[in-house]
Amino acid sequence: MSNSDYKACPKTTLPEIAFIGRSNVGKSSLINMLMNKKNLAKTSSAPGKTQLINHFMINQSWYLVDLPGYGYAKVSRDKRGQWQKLISNYLRHRENLTVVFVLIDCRLEPQTIDLEFINWCGEEQIPFVLVFTKLDKVSNAEWERNFTKFQQAMERSWEELPASFASSSTTAQGREELLGYIQSLLG
Ligand code: GTP
Ligand code: MG
Repeated sequence: MSNSDYKACPKTTLPEIAFIGRSNVGKSSLINMLMNKKNLAKTSSAPGKTQLINHFMINQSWYLVDLPGYGYAKVSRDKRGQWQKLISNYLRHRENLTVVFVLIDCRLEPQTIDLEFINWCGEEQIPFVLVFTKLDKVSNAEWERNFTKFQQAMERSWEELPASFASSSTTAQGREELLGYIQSLLG
């Protein structure tokens, strides 16, 4: 089911896990990798592919949700504002939301827009974990450097750091760990 308004999302008490992050970070690709289906969620090399709140029911027991990305400069300002509202309303009001996976591109130095989004989740008391994406694109040394920098950036406003995962949709690295974590959440 795809919706442009959180109010039209399925009425359910099933637990729900949502994927969020900058446009092009790899949300839809990660969903496909985890579910072992090539084209479940639509992906594109052009940012701004996912434009709606997309609900996928899994095993009749939980929902996985693909969201539009935030803050990509190449997406028009109007659209960015529209999606931001869509996303924040959804995250604030969705009662069965168990946890949000916030995806971060592991190739980049800490980005203000990601840190601001994470801090907003904190203010709104929205539970989240971090998933660093595109691990296949960096060397181990680069990944460790960027991860350390990200942790240092978070330590400026957080006492405790969230759970963090690393993944590659190309090599399926991180798949077992993420699925295990989801399993533990769903009990
Ligand atoms: P929007 O829907 O536009 O917000 O983007 P998205 O976050 O859903 O990203 P999407 O999954 O569509 O992937 C964006 C681009 O990055 C595509 O060209 C993917 O093939 C590529 N990509 C995603 N994940 C990975 C990864 O782990 N490794 C590599 N090498 N490429 C990836
Ligand atoms: Mg997408």
